[in-house]
Amino acid sequence: MFLTACFTNTKKSVDSQIPGKQLSFQRNKGNCLACHSIEDGEDPGNIGPALVNMQQRFAKKSELKALIWDATQFNDKTSMSPFGRNKILTAKELDAVVDYIWPL
Ligand code: HEC
Repeated sequence: MFLTACFTNTKKSVDSQIPGKQLSFQRNKGNCLACHSIEDGEDPGNIGPALVNMQQRFAKKSELKALIWDATQFNDKTSMSPFGRNKILTAKELDAVVDYIWPL
């Protein structure tokens, strides 16, 4: 039990160093947790589906990127902001978010 708790803590502090994760959780950036539950995310909303099994849902990383860049391309009535098109995330930030979300 103690070992497990210890290991979990270590993992969390390493995880918080992942830039794409910080961008995804930050309220003034991705704020993905407002609508999606993501591993380790506290108090998520459920407007969108949980972000899990991404590689089963998207055949290619580029498809995931295209969706996060502008979800209205796939659903013109989506409530998800077009993060790339609206420049909420810069190209670099968007790549970091995709790198983080893709293996989930
Ligand atoms: C305002 C709510 C909202 C926010 C904020 C939001 N999304 Fe979404 N997202 C949705 C909804 C709703 C869907 C379901 C499909 C649709 O409506 O287009 C979705 C779908 C998705 C999907 C497709 C999931 C699947 O399995 O089909 C991914 C991936 C995704 N969002 C990633 C993100 C990421 C990454 C962020 C943060 C950068 C984010 N979303 C922020 C509402 C949101």
